[in-house]
Amino acid sequence: MTLRVKADMWLARLWWHLPRTRALGTTAALAPKALQPFEAIPQYSRNTWLKMIQILREQGQENLHLEMHQAFQDLGPIFRYKVGRTQIVSVMLPEDAEKVYQAYSIYPHRTTLEPWLAHREHRGLRRGVFLLNGPEWRFNRLKLNPNVLSPKAVHKFVPMVDMVARDFVQNLKKKVFQNVRGSLTIAVQQDLFNYTIEASNFALFGERLGLLSNDLSPGSLEFLHALHSMFKTTTQLLFLPKSLTRWTSTLAWKEHFNAWDVISEYANRCIRKAHQELRFGNPQKYSGIVPELISQGVLPLDAIKANSMELTAGSIDTTATPLVMTLFELARNPGVQQALREESLAAEASIAADPHRVTSDVPLLRAALKETLRLYPVGPFLERMLNSDLVLQNYHVPAGVLKTFQVETQEHEDVQMVYRFVLMPSSSPLLTFRPVS
Ligand code: HEM
Repeated sequence: MTLRVKADMWLARLWWHLPRTRALGTTAALAPKALQPFEAIPQYSRNTWLKMIQILREQGQENLHLEMHQAFQDLGPIFRYKVGRTQIVSVMLPEDAEKVYQAYSIYPHRTTLEPWLAHREHRGLRRGVFLLNGPEWRFNRLKLNPNVLSPKAVHKFVPMVDMVARDFVQNLKKKVFQNVRGSLTIAVQQDLFNYTIEASNFALFGERLGLLSNDLSPGSLEFLHALHSMFKTTTQLLFLPKSLTRWTSTLAWKEHFNAWDVISEYANRCIRKAHQELRFGNPQKYSGIVPELISQGVLPLDAIKANSMELTAGSIDTTATPLVMTLFELARNPGVQQALREESLAAEASIAADPHRVTSDVPLLRAALKETLRLYPVGPFLERMLNSDLVLQNYHVPAGVLKTFQVETQEHEDVQMVYRFVLMPSSSPLLTFRPVS
């Protein structure tokens, strides 16, 4: 977790934050017993100019999580560094993260994602919860919670996600049986990205994109490309100040804006359509999170649009990557895979009768997904700006800152993870899907 002590920073946001879950060994001395001033916090130093050149050359910082790990090992569970005039503090221990959370009022304050924000500002668009802070964030968040996060809302959209999941498995099955060898070896990451985009889009807008079939409409293809391009360019623009990248990365900025424009136009179309259908269709029938927000009129349409764009962006890599890594771990731990298969066979009838039971009837599967998130924390950092003074580690920190398949893999080595806005495998592990006899 990272705390900012002073607000005006010029370098990008995510370079120094906390790798959240892994316990890290450290060779550094323990924190002092007596209260120490801020200046006594171990300082992390690196050559800023060299770092910037490296970021430009590599178009991002894929080893960010490893550099953080090294810094915590060398300096201990708390360290600080300065970027421009901004002091940044990184902590890794759960007890410190807890203290930071407790220090918060109802308005957590985070720095915003500059490339995304630049697009919204240039196009005169509203921001959603991802890009908001303060009372406006809270207002939007309280309106979204009952329709996105509450058990009642989940109950409504789970059947939609279930439908896409079934299509995905059917599709995979067809490919396996079409293959003369009777099994299919693929780099599954792209298929899982298509699955999460399809499922998220259906649950959000009540529309199918058709990404799981082979003949995509030009509109779906354009949307899919725009999402990929938006994520790719986010990583390229995230770590350096806009004042620099506007000269050094003009093509990336252009691509980033074009991608968001396509996503924004897509959200416009879906919202217009949902709006019309609500006027002339059956208002009782649930048809997704966004139509529900529109029909309740809890937020202005442009705020619903802003939030729908951010929910779309937030739901893709974050869910696809843990699925890839869960399949990979199950492929190299066949005993666990067998136990999960037995559990899901036992729960098959109850879940088929009521898809909501997927949240209660497969506890081992839930545990496997949680373990994947622990081993491969897809969102490895959290960031907060401090509103009030805090003592951390005895240092004073001032305010101002698939059931029918067996999955196999020949790859027994660990997969190398890279930071590309989320932590993801550097290349998709090859997995073999074989029907279970
Ligand atoms: C395993 C899956 C996921 C992980 C690990 C994850 C991780 C995170 C993290 C670490 C944050 C920052 C929270 C903070 O600053 O306090 C966040 C925020 C957010 N995520 Fe996710 N996320 C996941 C899935 C999703 C999905 C499926 C969606 C959309 C349907 C989504 C949408 C968002 C949004 C809109 C925010 C901003 C929330 C706010 O500030 O109020 N995320 N996520």
